[in-house]
Amino acid sequence: MITDALSAIADVLSCPHCGLALLVRGETLACASGHSFDVARQGYVSLLPSGARATTGDSAAMVAARSEFLARGHYGGVMDAVVASIPPGVSGRIADVAGGTGAYLAAVLDARPALAGVSLDLSPFAARRAARAHPRLASVVADVWRALPLRDDTVTHLLSIFGPRNADEFVRVLAAGGGLTVVTPSAAHLREIRGPLGMLSIEDNKSDRLATQLAAFRELSLTRVEYQTTMDHESLRNEVLMGPSAHHVTPAQLDERLDAIERQVRVTVSVEVRTFETAR
Ligand SMILES: C[S@@+](CC[C@H](N)C(=O)[O-])C[C@H]1O[C@@H](n2cnc3c(N)ncnc32)[C@H](O)[C@@H]1O
Ligand SMILES: [Zn+2]
Repeated sequence: MITDALSAIADVLSCPHCGLALLVRGETLACASGHSFDVARQGYVSLLPSGARATTGDSAAMVAARSEFLARGHYGGVMDAVVASIPPGVSGRIADVAGGTGAYLAAVLDARPALAGVSLDLSPFAARRAARAHPRLASVVADVWRALPLRDDTVTHLLSIFGPRNADEFVRVLAAGGGLTVVTPSAAHLREIRGPLGMLSIEDNKSDRLATQLAAFRELSLTRVEYQTTMDHESLRNEVLMGPSAHHVTPAQLDERLDAIERQVRVTVSVEVRTFETAR
C-alpha cells in the first residue's frame, strides 16, 4: 500500500535504474520506462539500483538499540539544534540521508509543518522504523554511495546526521538556494565512556575532512552543542550497540565492562552542527 507520505514526496523521487521521475501508479511507484517498485508491508519502498546489496546498513539489533537509546532523550539537545538549523518558514521537501530510525527528521517535521520529508537509509530495519516515525515522513531504502533516488534540483533541505556523506549527490539533488545541515561528533563526545566501554575513538581531523568534502558548499553557521546527560547501564549498552563499536565487542565483554563502572554515569554529549547552502 502506498502511504500518504510517499505520495506527497513522490515528485522528488527518481527511478534507481534509469533516473526518470517516479509517479504513483495504483499502489506502486513507477517510471515511464516501466520500472516499478512495490511498497513493503511496513510502509517503506526500496529504491536500490540493480546489483546493489544492503550489506553496510545497520543490523536489526543496532537499529533496535538506536531506537531505544534515542527514546530516552539523551540526544534531545542535538535534536533541538537540528530543528533550529532549519529556517522557520521553510516549505518544500527535506531529505535525511542515512536517516536511521527517522527520529531527527520526525522532530523537524513536527516543528516545520510546511515540509514533507523523506528518510533514505541502506538498512531495511531502519527504513521500517522510519516509515512509522511521522505521518509526513516517507521512508526509502537507498545507498548513499550510489546515485540517490532523488531528482536533480528538487530538495529544499538535506540532513546528514552522524552518517556517510556523498557531496556530489547532495549538490545534484538540492534546489538552487537549498540548505544542508551536517552533524558530526566532536573529540569530547562521550569522552567518559569511550575508554571504559572500549568504543572507537573519534578521528581528530574530522572537521578538516568535512571542509574538503563539502568544498562545493558555502558554510553558513557552526553551532557547538555540548552538555552532560546521566546514562544508566541500559542507555550505555544501547549507546555502544547502536554504533560501529558494536562490531568490536561481544555482549559478554560489554557486560563485564559495564559491571566495572557506576550504575549512573554523567556523560558528555559534544557535537558540531553546521549549516551550508549550495554555492550555485
Ligand atoms: C550512525 S547511524 C546515524 C543514523 C541517524 N542519522 C541518527 O543519527 O540517528 C548511520 C546510519 O547510516 C546508515 N548507512 C550506512 N551505510 C549507508 C549507505 N551506504 N547508504 C545509506 N545509509 C547507510 C546505517 O544504516 C545507519 O542507519
Ligand atoms: Zn526507470
